[in-house]
Parts: sequence; C-alpha cells; structure tokens
Amino acid sequence: MKLAPSLLAADFGRLREEIATVEGLVEGLHVDVMDGHFVPNISIGPAVVNALRDSTTIPFDIHLMVTEPASFIHRFKIRPGDFLTFHIEVVAEPGPLIAQIREAGAKVGVALKPRTPVEALFPLLPEVDLVLVMSVEPGFGGQEFLPGSLERIRRLKGEILRRGLAVEIAVDGGINEENIGQVVAAGAETIVAGTAIFGAQDRRAAIAGLRRAALGRTAQTKRRFEHGEGTL
Ligand code: DX5
Ligand code: ZN
Repeated sequence: MKLAPSLLAADFGRLREEIATVEGLVEGLHVDVMDGHFVPNISIGPAVVNALRDSTTIPFDIHLMVTEPASFIHRFKIRPGDFLTFHIEVVAEPGPLIAQIREAGAKVGVALKPRTPVEALFPLLPEVDLVLVMSVEPGFGGQEFLPGSLERIRRLKGEILRRGLAVEIAVDGGINEENIGQVVAAGAETIVAGTAIFGAQDRRAAIAGLRRAALGRTAQTKRRFEHGEGTL
C-alpha cells in the first residue's frame, strides 16, 4: 500500500514545512488543484505547485479538479514519477489529453466523481497508469467516506485483474484508521488521506496508525479467506 497525504489539509501558510513533516514517510503527495468551476472551491494552481516541486523528492499526484485540464498540463513542472490526474467527466475525447500528459513527462491518472459509474472508464484502462476513485464529492477535505465506494473499487479492481492490466487504483476522500482496511481490502493500492495525516499534530504517528490499521484488516481478511469465510 502507498500512502499519499493530501496537501489540501495542510497549513497553506507554511506548505514547505508541512511537506517536510512527511518526507521519507510516504510514497506520494496528493496535490488538489481546483478552479472554482468544476468544484465550488479554489485551492492552489501551477504557480504554487511549481514553487514547491523542488523542495521534495516525494512524487506528486496532481489532481486536476478543473473543467479544462488541457489548458493546464503544460504549466506544471514535472519530475519523473509524477502523475497528472484529470476528471473523466469533463473530457469527451481523452486521447489527445493523455498524449499531452505523457509529453509533459508525467504518468497518466484519471479520476471519477462518486456518481460516475466506474464502467465509464473501462475502455480507457489500457491507456492510463492510475485511476483515482473519489470517495467523497470533490471540492473539500474533511468529508465522510461514502460507503458505496467500496463496491466501486471492487468492480474496478475486478476489471483490471480480468484484463491483466497494470493500472493502479488510488482512493481519495474521507479515509481514516476506521475504514482504511476495507478500502485496501477492496483493491486500492494508493490511499490519499488529507485530514487523517495533515490534520494530525503528530504526522509520524498518524502515518504509522494508518499503516497499522490497513495491515490489521488485510491480515484479518486474508485469514478469513484462508478459512473459506470471505473473499479478498
Ligand atoms: C477533495 C480532495 C481530497 C481531499 C481529501 O476534493 O480531492 O484530496 O483533500 O481530504 P480528506 O482525506 O480530508 O477527505
Ligand atoms: Zn484530491
């Protein structure tokens, strides 16, 4: 499991210091970019993201919650290993956008709002590196995890496995120690967590707590599976 704290829950007045508190402890940094149109909120844009880019070697997943992703791709400073993730709901013809993201040197992520059927992106799966399943309505941190997301993750994971694809599943929104185990057991490889990490005083302890909770549940599910009482 990879953990990617969401910068949205960090103190925007001291972003460099905030990033330093998770350096070496996590596999990615989730960066929410909002335009006030796709979502009813505005966060940070390319200027701020680029100013932060060289302060850390943690790979960035830039989550574009914007109605016109194509006009922003080239504005980001990309390091190898970074993801640019666009929303399927605003892109009728994803081919050119995906090519543009690859040209920029980033890996390709595609995100889905909670009410968009996961089946909508099945045709696109061979073209992307990551699917970001939103488990809250996009726009704000600190919301409650939508339980229907678990079934969506399972369906997506089933399709990826059935076709033998190397697409990673990330899940974004409302994840905490209570539900992380279920999210991982459903098939997520990357867990995005804002409030649960940057909302905590002690980030090291919060990260360790999430990993412990994820492992506990995974081990429990595995045991049940081995005893024929459940499915992975
Ligand atoms: C919501 C954002 C999320 C958010 C997650 O629109 O895409 O990345 O920061 O925050 P928590 O973990 O607090 O739900
Ligand atoms: Zn996000």
